[in-house]
Amino acid sequence: MYKIAIIGGDGTGPEVIAEAVKVLKATEGKFGLEFKFTEFEYNGDRYLKEGKTLSDEEMEGLKKYDAILLGAIGHTDIKPGILERGILLKLRFGLDQYINLRPVKLYENVETPVKNKKPEDIDYVVVRENTGGLYSGFGGISMKNTPDEVAAQSMIYSRHQVERCIRFAFEYARKRNLTKPWRGLTKDELDKGYKGKLTLCGKTNVLTYVFDLWERTLHEVAREYPEIKPDYVHVDAMCIYMIECPEKFDVVVTGNMFGDIITDLAAVTQGGMGVAPGGNINPEGVGMFEPIGGTAPAFTGKNQINPMAAIGAAQMMLNHIGETDAAASIDKSMTEVFKKMKSMAAAQMGFSTTEIGDMVRDNL
Ligand code: IPM
Ligand code: MN
Repeated sequence: MYKIAIIGGDGTGPEVIAEAVKVLKATEGKFGLEFKFTEFEYNGDRYLKEGKTLSDEEMEGLKKYDAILLGAIGHTDIKPGILERGILLKLRFGLDQYINLRPVKLYENVETPVKNKKPEDIDYVVVRENTGGLYSGFGGISMKNTPDEVAAQSMIYSRHQVERCIRFAFEYARKRNLTKPWRGLTKDELDKGYKGKLTLCGKTNVLTYVFDLWERTLHEVAREYPEIKPDYVHVDAMCIYMIECPEKFDVVVTGNMFGDIITDLAAVTQGGMGVAPGGNINPEGVGMFEPIGGTAPAFTGKNQINPMAAIGAAQMMLNHIGETDAAASIDKSMTEVFKKMKSMAAAQMGFSTTEIGDMVRDNL
């Protein structure tokens, strides 16, 4: 039996997570699984009522679970940063979920704004470092509200943080279906849908300390994974390639801030926030799976938001805990349901939130 903690969060978070739970429950009978779901009210409403974000004890309590499913955190009446740092980042850091895994996969019939790209062209994974870099919170302000005010926030990375992230990315790349040995292939062959490549996305031309550390670590660790081709792109060029030739990518590894930015762009290429899931992973601890989009306050309570990203997050969760058959079944069912949807945008899907959940459940 798997103990799953549910944090619906704010806005449309609870609605989309309800659909993910619906689909998970349906896998129980079909795959002989058993889930025990426990809900937690860690969200903006509680903060407004009790002034509490997430205590250390509450965070510790979550270590007893096999996984966490999270909807979305954020509240229009609360200053940006309070809930993000107090709940979401506190969980990621406190549970040492040092990987943020974001698959970028265009499903059939899902419209992409990128011209002439097909599902086989947009199929890669971003491994975003999830606990360090600019998110470390290292910095400060002095002489606030004077003409001499100074503010700093630093991109900090230790060798340990970089290496464990890169190692995870190599292991992950190894588990994808490798096309064929890369040595001897032409640049063109390696850029056209080749699988078996790990691309570091950095900025070695300007951030000459931090990304030097990343690049050296990449090449050192690469010696242990001779079947994977190490590759490098600058983050600004990455934004060009993600649109012009996304088929160039297989597994991409990057720091926290760049990863945050490029995965929003990536989500748009795969059909938008309504379809993009992510996983916050601690390979030795508890993982937390979430749709990468926000709280969508304009759609809260309307039964119009797309739950596919949340269902995809549940699918990733099953893969992570080793229930790969059930995960594959959800993926297949999602593939079928995408074919029936009119759009991935909220209120334009041709179905309600709960209807989409029902369809994925019934197609398992
Ligand atoms: C994400 C989000 C978070 C982040 C915010 C809400 C703190 O944008 O999961 O990508 O920056 O990591
Ligand atoms: Mn983000």
